[in-house]
Amino acid sequence: MRRPADHRYARRSDSKLEPPCGILQLGRMRSVSSVGAMQRLAKSWRRRGVPIGFVPTMGYLHDGHLSLVREARRLVGRQGKVVLSIYVNPTQFGPKEDFRRYPRDLPRDLALCREAGVDVVFCPTDAELYPEGASTWVVEEALSQGLEGQSRPGHFRGVTTVVAKLFHLVLPDVAVFGAKDYQQAAVVRRMVRDLHFPVRIRVAPTRREPDGLAMSSRNRYLAGDLRRQALVVVQAIRVAQAQVRHGAGAAAGTLRRQLERVIARAPDARVDYIAFFDPETLAPLRRVQRGAHLALAVSVGKTRLIDNARL
Ligand code: PAJ
Repeated sequence: MRRPADHRYARRSDSKLEPPCGILQLGRMRSVSSVGAMQRLAKSWRRRGVPIGFVPTMGYLHDGHLSLVREARRLVGRQGKVVLSIYVNPTQFGPKEDFRRYPRDLPRDLALCREAGVDVVFCPTDAELYPEGASTWVVEEALSQGLEGQSRPGHFRGVTTVVAKLFHLVLPDVAVFGAKDYQQAAVVRRMVRDLHFPVRIRVAPTRREPDGLAMSSRNRYLAGDLRRQALVVVQAIRVAQAQVRHGAGAAAGTLRRQLERVIARAPDARVDYIAFFDPETLAPLRRVQRGAHLALAVSVGKTRLIDNARL
């Protein structure tokens, strides 16, 4: 990373200038890469009773991420600390997925975080987060089975494991997730409940572009006409909402076929799944009524998009 001009290495309490220990001061914001330094900082806040709000991300930030920062700030107040992590977690990507080409732009992300009033950006390294020979995983075995879990085997094992690690390092009172990844939020909530993590999970609404496309770091892959074609995803959601809100509900199979026809209007779109389920248990529904949840995954060209909505 190119270091901004005003950086200086932070001093430890023993007042010796640390070697590149992984803490950079960027104006009022700090960027921390060392896991030990992050945990020491979080512990010192906790000792002083300072509330910690946490937003885990994989970077390449957009306003969806920043809306989570605003929510975290609202929850912890001006005296609290907001930590945002940036880490493209290799273990949640399948071997044929886009880990290598996942968009990355740390200088831009740091500037956005600074503007948004983040206190600490935590950017751990692979070597520290996954020590040599790491052999411990956190696995949720119910909510993570269907939907994304079925299409992306091992994905949620990677997510729960990295989120558990990050929680141990950032020690948040509250962590904010986006409704855009509905199943992820449900799986994390379940992990926190089952493993008694002392953290509150907050889920903030999906932020959308003016034309309705859910904001996503992967939208940058949508070159030229694919960006326009991607709108079939949100069009499908609107059709489902209209069906359920103005009618007596529908059989899941019938509604699914209707949405498949909407998506087929885009020549480069291919449905991975369209699922109707109970919003709490994620159990599939045969009859879709008001209050049911819809999630869909659609590839547009080579870009896999996911979206969801309450009907
Ligand atoms: P990432 O895709 O970067 O998303 C980070 C957080 O931002 C997630 O909670 C996600 O739901 C939320 N988010 C993404 N797009 C959003 C939008 N349009 N509106 C509102 N929130 C949105 O999700 C991950 O990273 C990773 O799986 C992670 C949890 C960091 C673990 O590696």
